[in-house]
Amino acid sequence: MSYLKAEGVKKSFVTGDVTAEVLKGVDFSMEEGEFVAIVGESGSGKSTLLYILAGIETATEGSVKLFDRELSSISDAELAAMRRRDFSFVYQFDNLVPNLTVYENIVLPLALDRLKEESYLDSVNEIMEYLGVAKRKDSYPRQLSGGEQQRVALARALVTSPKIIFLDEPTGSLDKERGRQVMELLADINKTRGVSLLMVTHSDLHAAYASRVVRMEDGVLIGERESKT
Ligand SMILES: Nc1ncnc2c1ncn2[C@@H]1O[C@H](COP(=O)(O)OP(=O)(O)OP(=O)(O)O)[C@@H](O)[C@H]1O
Ligand SMILES: [Mg+2]
Repeated sequence: MSYLKAEGVKKSFVTGDVTAEVLKGVDFSMEEGEFVAIVGESGSGKSTLLYILAGIETATEGSVKLFDRELSSISDAELAAMRRRDFSFVYQFDNLVPNLTVYENIVLPLALDRLKEESYLDSVNEIMEYLGVAKRKDSYPRQLSGGEQQRVALARALVTSPKIIFLDEPTGSLDKERGRQVMELLADINKTRGVSLLMVTHSDLHAAYASRVVRMEDGVLIGERESKT
């Protein structure tokens, strides 16, 4: 079974009487346990592809299968539940809800699923320790550094024990050192927790942490290479 399989994915945006074809036929697949990076220039369609693969946006044409199920055949309600339980999405900016504390942000997907706090408290504490944000659990996002905010977003992505985490420029707003720390955490999450990761990045340096790198150019994926690290 393929975790994620896209075939012939096209996406057009219509603005007034102009139609822009942003994805021009993308084929992509990812297996369990992989860490894949998509690199490419600004405007090449990386975020658009990630949103479509995560079921946040729909393709104009083509097929996307997640865990062998065609996304377009899944009801909105079920898709929303899958988005909470089976996969997580980490955005580049505005990851956190400003008027919730760090802890409240992290447990949000669990609270939305109406789980009882006793059922997750230990594992959430473990994840907060692991990501080095336990001491900040009662702080608000604006009181944190960019790197801390990004680690809180990772914690929130992890608490549901997802099969896949989608990440759109997870290091985009960070300086070099903090970016490196987040990449090392991601590689560790992939290795030790077995979570599949699909990450979009501008940075070839950060892409090298992935086990496979694909390049997006003007709406198509061109070539793949095995990463050395
Ligand atoms: N909702 C939308 N409506 C119209 N055009 C859009 C929409 N979303 C994206 N686009 C266009 O699609 C193209 C690809 O955008 P996308 O955000 O996927 O690029 P990207 O590769 O993620 O770029 P960046 O590296 O800057 O984040 C851009 O030209 C963008 O203007
Ligand atoms: Mg983008």
